[in-house]
Amino acid sequence: MKIDILTVVPGLLDGAFSHSILKRAADKKLLEINVINLRDYTNLPRAQVDDYQFGGGAGMVLMIEPLVNAVESLQQKSIYDEIIFLTPDGKTLNQKLANSLSLKNNLLLICGHYKGIDQRFRDNFVTMEISIGDYVLSGGELAAAVLADSIGRLIPGVLNDESSALTDSFQDDLLAPPVYTRPEDFRGMKVPPVLMSGNHKLIEEWRHEKAVERTQLLRPDIFKS
Ligand code: ADE
Repeated sequence: MKIDILTVVPGLLDGAFSHSILKRAADKKLLEINVINLRDYTNLPRAQVDDYQFGGGAGMVLMIEPLVNAVESLQQKSIYDEIIFLTPDGKTLNQKLANSLSLKNNLLLICGHYKGIDQRFRDNFVTMEISIGDYVLSGGELAAAVLADSIGRLIPGVLNDESSALTDSFQDDLLAPPVYTRPEDFRGMKVPPVLMSGNHKLIEEWRHEKAVERTQLLRPDIFKS
């Protein structure tokens, strides 16, 4: 899978994908992430990409021309399954959406900055709008990093243990159960004995019970009986 990210602040994404699981995904050639500078696609002096909004009002708007130049140039090399604009107006990201996007081959993520981007670009070029939550960030870059991470780890073969994505929180509308590691007893705080029993059936039942308990308590809104 390839994820291209178009931004005016490429530095914000420096290093975001060169560690841990996404680095492993890149090393295994399962995921390629390219950060593309929108300023490379403007013909205006001082690499201008934004301008005042028509009708007045505070805040600069990303201009349609560099955005279209960039998209059309990138489309010479890639056929995108989705062109995604990160915005608080978008559909809220959840595990189901991440799962469905992890099945695509080519995604282009567009990061807004300043007041927003020209609506004509959204109307005519963007195929999907995604928000990472009901709060406003300074730009779409951190949201794009969150989205790319949530998708990248789901690509088959990226996680060592295939089942580990399947037991993540939300994967079956349940939060994940608690986990423990050595030592078995830390200052009198003990690991639940069932986990030391070696009885896999009992352990699975206990984990499910704890996941249900946790979900009912912490996220009653997602709990389905
Ligand atoms: N850009 C600014 N805020 C955002 C959010 N909450 N989600 C996605 N993109 C954004």
